[in-house]
Amino acid sequence: MSRIEAPRPAGTAGSGTLVDRLRAGLPTEAVLTDPDVAASYANDMASFCPAGTPAVVVLPRTVEQVQHVMRTATGLRVPVVPQGARTGLSGGANASDGCIVLSLTRMRRILEIDPVDRIAVVEPGVVNADLSRAVHEHGLYYPPDPSSWETCTIGGNIGTASGGLCCVKYGVTAEYVLGLDVVLADGRLLSTGRRTAKGVAGYDLTRLFVGSEGSLGIVVRAVLALRPKPPEQLVLAAEFRSAAEACDAVCRIMAGGHVPSLLELMDRTTVKAVNDLAHMGLPETTEALLLAAFDTPDPAADLAAVGALCEAAGATQVVPADDAAESELLLQARRLSLTALEAVKGTTMIDDVCVPRSRLGDLLEGVERIADVHGLTIGVCAHAGDGNTHPTVCFDAQDPDESRRARESFDEIMALGLELGGTITGEHGVGVLKKEWLAREIGPVGVDLQRQIKQVFDPLGLLNPGKLF
Ligand code: LAC
Ligand code: ZN
Repeated sequence: MSRIEAPRPAGTAGSGTLVDRLRAGLPTEAVLTDPDVAASYANDMASFCPAGTPAVVVLPRTVEQVQHVMRTATGLRVPVVPQGARTGLSGGANASDGCIVLSLTRMRRILEIDPVDRIAVVEPGVVNADLSRAVHEHGLYYPPDPSSWETCTIGGNIGTASGGLCCVKYGVTAEYVLGLDVVLADGRLLSTGRRTAKGVAGYDLTRLFVGSEGSLGIVVRAVLALRPKPPEQLVLAAEFRSAAEACDAVCRIMAGGHVPSLLELMDRTTVKAVNDLAHMGLPETTEALLLAAFDTPDPAADLAAVGALCEAAGATQVVPADDAAESELLLQARRLSLTALEAVKGTTMIDDVCVPRSRLGDLLEGVERIADVHGLTIGVCAHAGDGNTHPTVCFDAQDPDESRRARESFDEIMALGLELGGTITGEHGVGVLKKEWLAREIGPVGVDLQRQIKQVFDPLGLLNPGKLF
């Protein structure tokens, strides 16, 4: 057995050596060493997450180039931080000191779209919206749609097991990843999974990579399941006097057997923030706005049924959109929520707690209590149909006391989520932000086994160190 050495910072290998060795297998323009440029790759979009200074940024275009990077990293014991578009919200793509940032954004070819097998084969840097548009032209649909879909990449979506607005009907990224090509830490190429409709050969390594946050290997190609393109969805907006009433409506809709293509909630703070940012004209007198949509053959009939349930739960107004264009505007407003909340006080900490949807009301009531106790503004937008909420703590990062209270309330919301039988993260991942919370959620046995799995794939601990646990 080969001797296993602890990773050492890149500096000790001599950055000249590192850069020279990288350049031996990469085009000059794919190796960025300017310190300012490298520093611009240090962070994803999460607040309050430490980030180090990369030694170098590489932008490979081929699988062989990625293999070269990993062989070099292993040879010199240099940590590697894989990155997509850095739209993540947990610090999972943040650089560590002296690392190689491995940006997959230039591997952005859609290699295949097959309407018979209903699959797409893509490189990791393909932007989510580009794939969605490309498959539409074939009458197909790739559902996972994070709010950042216009910029985020499929590789990043796989790394964090992203969700989005449509998940209440169509499920999350994990359900669409059939097979992967992955460059391992030592440079070997692993193919997992299948391009068939079924397949149960061996352990499901494909699923293991989804949500592994770049800690097990570098995804260089993905086989994705597609669905037939559904009819255009129609959205309804319902106004409520309290979050509790809106949550009651969600329970009635789901218990009633309805299958909305989205079921989203925005509280009053979020609605006002979106209006302030983008002048969308959303109703500000309401405490909670629920958006429901159907992409069924007769969406108007489904919306009427769901509208009646909203009224039974106490909705003061139920307004179906006139057409697809108006529906899209409402969705744009929802997708803007986090950007808008960021503008309230300059900084946000965004929770991603997911609870059984029957406990959604309890969670939102608890969030209001936490906001009151800490004297903070916490706006909530939520994938209500999934019980997946984003209580967003708005604060002034220049104010140390407010920052401390923000961190405390952020943590209290996760504690409450766990108490209610939920998870600390429904779709944003653990990254750096929720490391100690992962241990609380999965317990010592869970952490121990996860560490052992990591050891199998990455015995030198070079892949995205310091993330997850
Ligand atoms: C959203 C992202 C932040 O729901 O998950 O808008
Ligand atoms: Zn979300």
